[in-house]
Amino acid sequence: MESLSNWERSCYCGEPGLAQVGQKITVMGWVHARRDHGGVTFIDLRDRSGLVQVVCNPQVSPAAHAAAKDVRLEYVLAVHGVLARRSPETVNPNLPTGEVEVSASELRVLNPSRTTPFPVDDSIIPTENARLRYRYLDLRRPQMYENLRLRHRLAKLVRDYLDSQGFLEIETPFLTRSTPEGARDYLVPSRVNPGAFYALPQSPQLFKQLLMVGGVDKYFQIVRCFRDEDLRADRQPEFTQIDVEMSFVRPEDIFRLTEGMMVRLCHEIKGMELSLPFSHLTYAEALARFGNDKPDIRFGLELRELTELFRETDAQVFTDVITKGGVIRGIVVPNATFSRKELDDLNPLAVSFGAKGLAWVRLTATGWQSPLAKFVSDEKKREITVALGLKEGDLLLMVADQEKTVCDVLSRLRLYLGDKLGLIPKDEMRFLWVTDFPLLEYDEEAKRYVAMHHPFTSPHEDDLPSLETEPGRVRAMAYDLVLNGVELGGGSIRNHRLNVQQRVFAQLGIGETEAQDKFGFLLEALSYGAPPHGGIAFGFDRLVMLFAGAESLREVIAFPKTAKAVCLMTQAPSPVEPKQLRELSIKLDL
Ligand code: AMO
Ligand code: AMP
Repeated sequence: MESLSNWERSCYCGEPGLAQVGQKITVMGWVHARRDHGGVTFIDLRDRSGLVQVVCNPQVSPAAHAAAKDVRLEYVLAVHGVLARRSPETVNPNLPTGEVEVSASELRVLNPSRTTPFPVDDSIIPTENARLRYRYLDLRRPQMYENLRLRHRLAKLVRDYLDSQGFLEIETPFLTRSTPEGARDYLVPSRVNPGAFYALPQSPQLFKQLLMVGGVDKYFQIVRCFRDEDLRADRQPEFTQIDVEMSFVRPEDIFRLTEGMMVRLCHEIKGMELSLPFSHLTYAEALARFGNDKPDIRFGLELRELTELFRETDAQVFTDVITKGGVIRGIVVPNATFSRKELDDLNPLAVSFGAKGLAWVRLTATGWQSPLAKFVSDEKKREITVALGLKEGDLLLMVADQEKTVCDVLSRLRLYLGDKLGLIPKDEMRFLWVTDFPLLEYDEEAKRYVAMHHPFTSPHEDDLPSLETEPGRVRAMAYDLVLNGVELGGGSIRNHRLNVQQRVFAQLGIGETEAQDKFGFLLEALSYGAPPHGGIAFGFDRLVMLFAGAESLREVIAFPKTAKAVCLMTQAPSPVEPKQLRELSIKLDL
């Protein structure tokens, strides 16, 4: 093994081109491929920038050729040589450096490598467990480097943009008290205060509000948040937010700031010009038209209300549901060319989404084709056909159940159909504001109201008088930013008036003592001239994922965790020494 000693890299592997032919260059990197051809050894040397072909010809350098003999894939090499033009028949048009090669005069093996558990190659994707276990090898794949680079560029653009708008980036503590965002806390025991725990922040929510009380006026932070919750492809236990808070603002001000930021990001990264302002839907409209509060508005297939149309029919699967206070809604698939089997397969799919069944009507030249046809009079059929504007070839898919289930099933079915029918323009970026969320949501299990956004969100001014009398109907000054069906960000105007905050706590079942105990510092701060303020936080990992066109957050996080919140590489979390537990005054009870 040789050391670098006085060797200095002259360029990255992906850089040399015809302009440098004849120059002496020094490249360093990993062996991506190695071939012997007529006594000459060819090595593809790879670094983060790409590949270059190194030729070890014994007639040019017997030493380099001899050294190349023993190299294997993923060995680390330094190569010194002259950049040569490839003969026309050996040019590789698929490689940016494909017109040149390095004629090696010296080759040093800086480090060998064991045979890797999977090839480092974008065309061969190993299992996710293997990728996470050997993440440092997975990161050598060009796609992963591109994802990390994209993440870096986005972070830099965000910083530059917010800086240009007068924001200060300020760090807030990780060892802190619980900030409720609806997940469980990760706790950290305090050694010097036996029995006491810090909570890692679910978000910097309270600190950013206190910065507003502190007169900072415009704060942001690209910050890690920690939430112990059920994980999915778009959730990680630790994730990054672009966290923003501003004083003396209305929701419009936050929309404008956000839209300016997204315009900049789409322009710089995708060369795409967004049209402004972004679309808006109220929460109620989003649910009615798309079945969820984060609709993908890149395609149609909107939900249709059918309850009244079917009320007076003999379709018992429907009328039973209506009698029990349920609803019937459906989706019209125009010109559906589904085979009978494809149609039948939709039923178990809907059931897997939580439906009891999936009813359908196909409008043919001879009228309704449907399992329900015989339960609906001809007149009703005509009425329904006209009301929905059904045309020959159209397919109506219907679900009857309680409203929440119907929304849930149809919103998922809509996404499935949009994808299956190729209706989703993949390279569009469709941003959407969802506004007017309810302030409170009734938690059936806990038998009380919980905050739909978080407990610091301000009720809508117009609804404030009915906070105590009709809490479930109070709208919040809260908004979500949705991009292509993903909840990208959420925020609100906060309670800056002490008494309003206290009234909201009361509705959440947080009594005065508990409020003092948990949030006394906030309540106190609100009593010292807190300015009106509000903000938003964007899921930065989700932003990068969407810009990368990736399917999972794990593709854009250097060292992510599995769905069980485990790091397969470091094997965290892990047991600790009994001594450490004793120091923390902790006894395990497993
Ligand atoms: P919220 O809880 O809506 O708001 O979070 C803001 C955004 O953070 C992202 N996000 C996540 N990303 C990955 N993994 C997770 N587990 C995860 N949880 C949330 C989402 C989400 O839209 N303090 C408030 C913001 C505010 O009111 O200003 C907050 O944290 O993209
Ligand atoms: P059944 O009478 O159970 O054979 O159902 C007749 C048709 O109605 C089948 O196509 C079922 O999938 C469908 N169906 C049953 N229950 C529901 C429901 N709650 N919502 C929508 N369709 C249903």
